[in-house]
Amino acid sequence: MYAVELEGRGNFGEWRDAARSLLAASVAPSDVDWRLKSDRGTRLDFEQQASLPVAKTPAQITVPSAFLPLAEAIICHSDPARFSLLYRLLWRLQQDRALLQIKADPDVQAARQMEKSVRRDSHKMTAFVRFKEVPGEGAQARRCFIAWFEPDHFIVERKAPFFQRRFNDMDWLIATPKGSARWNGQLLETSREPAERPDISDETDELWRTYYANIFNPARLKIKAMTAEMPKKYWKNLPEADLIPELVIGAEARVLGMAAKAATEPQMFHHRIQAAAAAKPQEVLPDANTLAGVKREAQSCQMCPLHCAATQTVFGEGPEKAQVMIVGEQPGDHEDLAGRPFIGPAGRVFDQVLGETGIERQSLYVTNAVKHFKYEARGKKRIHQRPNAGEVERCRWWLTREIDLVQPKLIVAMGATAVYALTGMKETLSSVRSRPIPMENSRILFATVHPSYLLRIPDPARQSQERALFVEDLRAVRRLSEA
Ligand code: URA
Repeated sequence: MYAVELEGRGNFGEWRDAARSLLAASVAPSDVDWRLKSDRGTRLDFEQQASLPVAKTPAQITVPSAFLPLAEAIICHSDPARFSLLYRLLWRLQQDRALLQIKADPDVQAARQMEKSVRRDSHKMTAFVRFKEVPGEGAQARRCFIAWFEPDHFIVERKAPFFQRRFNDMDWLIATPKGSARWNGQLLETSREPAERPDISDETDELWRTYYANIFNPARLKIKAMTAEMPKKYWKNLPEADLIPELVIGAEARVLGMAAKAATEPQMFHHRIQAAAAAKPQEVLPDANTLAGVKREAQSCQMCPLHCAATQTVFGEGPEKAQVMIVGEQPGDHEDLAGRPFIGPAGRVFDQVLGETGIERQSLYVTNAVKHFKYEARGKKRIHQRPNAGEVERCRWWLTREIDLVQPKLIVAMGATAVYALTGMKETLSSVRSRPIPMENSRILFATVHPSYLLRIPDPARQSQERALFVEDLRAVRRLSEA
């Protein structure tokens, strides 16, 4: 019997070196007693066994590629049986290279379970580490943070690079009973020594509580799923956890309150629109072969769910036979209420740039890829949401009919959504921007940025650079339309 004594604190190298020597000397798994150094003195037979054999020839050991990541995960597990299990697998893999694919094999099953448990613990560490600020050292000190976490397994070394990438711009220490990691902006250090729980709290505790109380949705409460995602054993180190019982108890009443509120308080503008719709006289069937007819048809479009929350369909407008068609993304807040495209902030930028390039807006047919406003209601605000591919595809029905009726010779796509609606291709805008692209029926497509892109650029210098490029693009549009 050979005794192998390991620290067993997540260090893959120490197990690998020992396993290599044993395998090179053909020591069968049943002849190895894997032990933890920390057990020394608790076992009477400790001194009675032979230590690691020395191989006569250098070890040439190969393993299937799936073994290494599995072994590196399992070595972090806290079960002392992991060393012998891994060695048994390694031994058996020398005879049976496909062993890891046999899901019913008890060793493979045990290994996969350990791997799963380590991965789950690692995932929980990324979700539940809570940093608290502590005073930095020296005048130039960066902000310093400490977190205490209690993992099930020896995962600190494994996860430390994640925290280094994620919290690169601050100094931090993550202390755990199973080792610690520290980052100072230059060096990532880890220690396998158990740490003591620091006694710290700061105002971020209150922030976490506020955040949690706000994202807690009583209407979506599923206690089983919640405790699976946020197991109780982590609660003691989560500042927000003591809110949970109260939020759960009050959930039902809050849902009832929300339902009652929604029934009595529809959004203001809906009254106006509903009244306008009710006042409309019944009209004769629209003529499907005119723009006015298609526009009328589109008013009752229900091809995707966006019509539910939008005020109305915002159809294109402009001359029936415009040479140039402009396609934006979707109506915004102002357009949704007014029922006309590009009359809000993005429309103002568009109009200004048209003015600078000498293009008359009245000569253009202006429309959008999607005809209903997609938004998320936040308080009284309606925040623009980008339409998804399915919504764009549904709405292509209307865009195609507009193109068929207007027959423009040049179509300007403003933004990636318009490019997708017109070509079906999810190109990056930069790869198609600022050059004429031939389309069917000798039509030309010209892609540029969306004016609201300019409005979102915070740096004034960059904004004016990008605006100048947009002006350039519209000058090219003018030249193309006159060619
Ligand atoms: N953005 C668009 O894409 N279209 C509009 O009509 C308004 C803003």
